[in-house]
Amino acid sequence: MNYENLLITIENSIATIVINRPSKLNALNIATINDLHKAIKILGKNKEVQVIILTGSGEKAFVAGADISEFAHFTVEEGTQLAFQGHELLFNYIENLKTPVIAAINGFALGGGLELAMACHFRIASDNAKMGLPEVSLGVIPGYGGTQRLPQLVGKGRAMEMIMTAGMITADEAKQYGLVNHVVPQTELINFAISIAEKIIKNSPFAVGRAIKSINANYAEGKNGYEIEIKNFGRCFGTGDFTEGTKAFLEKRKPVFKGK
Ligand code: COA
Repeated sequence: MNYENLLITIENSIATIVINRPSKLNALNIATINDLHKAIKILGKNKEVQVIILTGSGEKAFVAGADISEFAHFTVEEGTQLAFQGHELLFNYIENLKTPVIAAINGFALGGGLELAMACHFRIASDNAKMGLPEVSLGVIPGYGGTQRLPQLVGKGRAMEMIMTAGMITADEAKQYGLVNHVVPQTELINFAISIAEKIIKNSPFAVGRAIKSINANYAEGKNGYEIEIKNFGRCFGTGDFTEGTKAFLEKRKPVFKGK
């Protein structure tokens, strides 16, 4: 897998994707969005990969937003299409992936960068990270799900204030808001993300995927999350993972899951 703006490694069932445009603070241009889609699609189908960690290259930025130079001259139709395609190819795609995706926010996560982190299943941040949705300062609004996912994570009032002021919050504030789960020194960020991934991969990949689906159902329009939970709970009973997990418990040994 070779990508212009991504570096990918796979080790011990954990894939790490580094967005690698440091001279532009890893800003998301369309080529990078397309590459991320391709990479995540391939990794999501790879049974050897049980967790994906997404981070930015360098010490300054996770992603400093969508690439402003690319859309500065867009028309109404082009702007609409940009957001629509972004949702489909990347933001909704990650959110609905069965493989857990952890955002390791190693610096600025602004605009599309914070929206990307919010599309991931959860977030950890380095202590130098700064987060915000500054789009209204450019005369536009967040277009990659920011107006929806930020209030889900931090509450409506805080989201309103963050979006309307176009301000940035620190990593500690983000933790206090519930936007990130943990804050660690930058040098420890990836190892910390790996330590969480290691806890996840001890569990049934099938059950983890179904848990993601059921949790997401709470936020999806027209879906009854409780019904989806019941359905997915039932599906687990037909898997080898369930047989193995319950058998291993009763035999007082560690389970060996196959993800099916
Ligand atoms: N789109 C395109 N290019 C971007 C970018 C973005 N979102 N964010 C940063 N860059 C580029 C800069 O243009 C600059 O490129 P250059 O060296 O070719 O001029 C390079 O990345 C470094 O950024 P710079 O602004 O010089 O760094 P800084 O440390 O002074 O400031 C930020 C850092 C993050 C505060 C500043 O880059 C910024 O405000 N970026 C835009 C944030 C934003 O509005 N994002 C939402 C977009 S929807």
